[in-house]
Amino acid sequence: MVTERPFLITHELSFIFEGRLHVLEDVSLTIAAGAFVALVGPSGVGKSTLLRLLGGLLPATGGEALLQGQPPHLHGSPIGIVFQRDGLMPWRTVWDNVALPLELQGVQKGEGNGRIQAVLDLVGLSDFIHSYPAQLSGGMAQRVSIARALVHEPALLLLDEPFGALDALTRERMGQELLRIWEAMPVTVFMVTHSIMEAVLLADEVMVMNGEPAAGKPARITARIPISLPRPRHLHMQATADFQQHAAAVRQAIAGV
Ligand SMILES: Nc1ncnc2c1ncn2[C@@H]1O[C@H](COP(=O)(O)OP(=O)(O)OP(=O)(O)O)[C@@H](O)[C@H]1O
Ligand SMILES: [Mg+2]
Repeated sequence: MVTERPFLITHELSFIFEGRLHVLEDVSLTIAAGAFVALVGPSGVGKSTLLRLLGGLLPATGGEALLQGQPPHLHGSPIGIVFQRDGLMPWRTVWDNVALPLELQGVQKGEGNGRIQAVLDLVGLSDFIHSYPAQLSGGMAQRVSIARALVHEPALLLLDEPFGALDALTRERMGQELLRIWEAMPVTVFMVTHSIMEAVLLADEVMVMNGEPAAGKPARITARIPISLPRPRHLHMQATADFQQHAAAVRQAIAGV
């Protein structure tokens, strides 16, 4: 559910890697509470760097990011993050992997059981709580990662190509799952993806990043394309003219046309 209240803003954010590689320049954006925003752009442009800045995993070298008015790393509520590789601990069961963020927060064993069960139900893995990551398909492992990112009820969920390692059919299914989860929770989603179709199908807005940091051209957000397709979104919408027009607009913005 989108509200007009600014939830996450960046103001002239810049990032210079180790004092020499100017990755991001002048990134100013606003994301409303409850929005689903996708970020697309060429490989190596700086998408993951921006995601890390928004999550407080990297300090900005200029400008600022503010999550509900505070720098992300100082913000009281946790931020959920999912990367392309599931990052699960192979020696822990599904249940124990999802329990990990609560353990790290110092929640007493047993106290978080209700929440762990609820997020495992939400991602459809209640029957696999005793399984180990090696026993899961790629899609199931990513569901565990999503459950782990949601277990501490974050207001912000950052996804860095979460379905990039999955086959096309599983990826489509996971996109639909993600929409269902987002609609069931009061969470704001910022997702980096390489897929224009995925970005248009899922997001309220697609941000496009362009530049070539390695060639001395720092990246910026060069387009913000609102996706006015109705919700709920379904895969078959991809065949509509409306969808195709949105996808073409994103494609042109990436090419800088
Ligand atoms: N640890 C690092 N060491 C050296 N360079 C880095 C490091 N992290 C990022 N960079 C550089 O910063 C730039 C942006 O990288 P980033 O990972 O943010 O891009 P990206 O858009 O996420 O790329 P991809 O789509 O391939 O994931 C690249 O030029 C990259 O080489
Ligand atoms: Mg990346």
